[in-house]
Amino acid sequence: MVFTGNFYRMKNDKLKAAERIKKLRELISDYRYHYHVLDESVMSEAAADSLKHELTQLEDQYPDLITPDSPTQRVAGEPISGFRTIGHRIPMLSLNDVFNQIELEAWIKRIKKFLPPSVRLEYFMDLKMDGFAAALVYEDGILTSAVTRGDGRVGEDVTANVRTIESVPLRLRKAAGYEKFLKGRTEIRGEIVMYKKDFSRLNESRAASGQPLFANPRNTAAGTIRQLNPNLVAERPLHFHSYDILRDDPGEVVTNNFAYKAIRELGLQANSETKLAKDSKDILDFANQWEEKRAKLPFNTDGLVIKVNDRLLYARLGVVGKAPRGAAAYKYPAEQATTKVKDIFISIGRTGSATPVAILEPVLVAGSTVQMATLHNESEVKRKDIRVGDTVIIHKAGDIIPEVIEPLLRLRTGTEKEFTMPLDCPECSTRLVKLKADEAVWRCPNNSCPSRVWKRIQHYASKAALDIEGLGEKNVIALLNSGLINDTADIYELKKEDLLGLDRFAEISATKLVNAIQSQKTPPLARFLYGLGIRHVGVQTAVDLANRFKRLDTLGNATFNDLREVEGVGDIVAESILFWFEDDDNQRILAKFRSLGVWPQDVKTVGGKLSGKRFVVTGSLESMSREEAAERIRALGGTFQSSLGKDTDYLVVGANVGANKLARAEKFGTHVIHEKQLLGLLN
Ligand code: IVH
Repeated sequence: MVFTGNFYRMKNDKLKAAERIKKLRELISDYRYHYHVLDESVMSEAAADSLKHELTQLEDQYPDLITPDSPTQRVAGEPISGFRTIGHRIPMLSLNDVFNQIELEAWIKRIKKFLPPSVRLEYFMDLKMDGFAAALVYEDGILTSAVTRGDGRVGEDVTANVRTIESVPLRLRKAAGYEKFLKGRTEIRGEIVMYKKDFSRLNESRAASGQPLFANPRNTAAGTIRQLNPNLVAERPLHFHSYDILRDDPGEVVTNNFAYKAIRELGLQANSETKLAKDSKDILDFANQWEEKRAKLPFNTDGLVIKVNDRLLYARLGVVGKAPRGAAAYKYPAEQATTKVKDIFISIGRTGSATPVAILEPVLVAGSTVQMATLHNESEVKRKDIRVGDTVIIHKAGDIIPEVIEPLLRLRTGTEKEFTMPLDCPECSTRLVKLKADEAVWRCPNNSCPSRVWKRIQHYASKAALDIEGLGEKNVIALLNSGLINDTADIYELKKEDLLGLDRFAEISATKLVNAIQSQKTPPLARFLYGLGIRHVGVQTAVDLANRFKRLDTLGNATFNDLREVEGVGDIVAESILFWFEDDDNQRILAKFRSLGVWPQDVKTVGGKLSGKRFVVTGSLESMSREEAAERIRALGGTFQSSLGKDTDYLVVGANVGANKLARAEKFGTHVIHEKQLLGLLN
């Protein structure tokens, strides 16, 4: 046989894969041991899933490398000892996941095929709690047993422990119209959850007494309920949130909506954040609405549970594998994943900050592909010991810039390269400096550094500043490269004919951009101030400064003490503002703006009618966006707050406000008003 170079390459690839598989298996097994046995966390579940995914892919590629002890070969269901087991009369099923609109609609289409076309389906939605499932059995209204889900057919008898949970009544409540549930067998299923705040408190006290920390609230709840000592369980605050009620005669509970009502009437807790939906749009609206708001819930949730509301139809739809066909879990995308660092480069920001950024092998996190992640600064890279070639855990939530949490040291091969901070700016070769010796951030001090210039112009044109459409990153760079502009003020001199000379513009786009720029010659002072890109002057500080000083010239002449009098302006911000106005380059730009007829409007509202009043807007408004509401409130002297606090005067409620918010508002004595009333105040 003749071996070609190709053969050796393939053999080499396989050897590398075998090496990687071995390390991945060790790491995943270690994760499982810590998670399931020690109730400790070595990484998030999402990161471990990401590693499992990589392992599965490698095993798919080299099936002969699969071994029976690989984590991919595990059958679900953990054996537990120490408790008596009890069989479930009706299996406790799991749910199939859907992750997006397409999968959701495919599920709806699938179930409709099993039902007559005339059936109009209605869906019942609840938050999917991240807890530990259990079934409570009441005989003639008295709690007789509590059983964990186990493998779905048989679970552990945890009655003694569940009896210590305050929200589990030992006897069902008598309620008019619900008497029949107190006769015979009533089974109530739900999730045992530990609230986030209780979990943090518990971990804080464990840290204080030197005990290992718990991984997350779900594991802690599970670990607690499987304690053999009920006294210990009683010390840990757990809650039972019910989601199902079963009777021998299923006809007694006709809808899932009714099931929740019955549960509450009988004295158990069920989530109030439920809703009925008629189609995928309603479901997606509900899901989107909770995606952000869920952070404020007392418990963790990673999605929704959607069930066909009519329980007869739900039963008719049957079971596929281990999950009911008539229900699905709509899961929010995982916010963590693992990937490899391909390189580390230095990004120079608008204010000169030199930030190390990791270039990553593209990976899907929280619904979008991530290719870069900030490493913050040199000391962070050193502290976390992130090297080029490392497999790292990355985190991304919503719009937040992805960041590298940690490298997985056990996956290192020895070929990883340590990072060294360059001495000079990679864009303009100026020596990097630290403004203060103890600062973590290195900066490029050159105001004309190309990277700083284009980021400054892009910032000036950004939505929260001058909002000039068509002046994004690519166009700004093209304009700078062509020499048509050199600084922010130059954009006002651009002519349509100039733009037409560039590849990126045609008649319409050129006209639009020039008009967009010209329409922003006398912007509101706050926006202009924010657009100048003064370090530490964010949107709110810009508004506060504008309201206080009214004119740009007055602000430019303000002393340190004048500045310090503004709410939210501390020593650092005040210094930064003074520094900006003292800089010759900045004075030159201001003079150029003025000579081009570009100058912010003076603030005229002397003690606006909302002055001193603080507002929070929750839910979506019909007549305006949140940003618009904020701007209009501020224009009248009011303050727009992002979260409800003791000092909030008005809570403006839009569509779908949660009961929690309203309760808090009542506690704080905040006036709750609707959009109409807000409009009344604004007009
Ligand atoms: S309804 C077929 N409603 O999710 C079981 N389950 O992945 C459907 N869960 O074992 C039950 N929150 O423990 C339902 N609001 C909720 C839930 C919920 C969490 C759990 C439940 C179930 C698991 C399925």
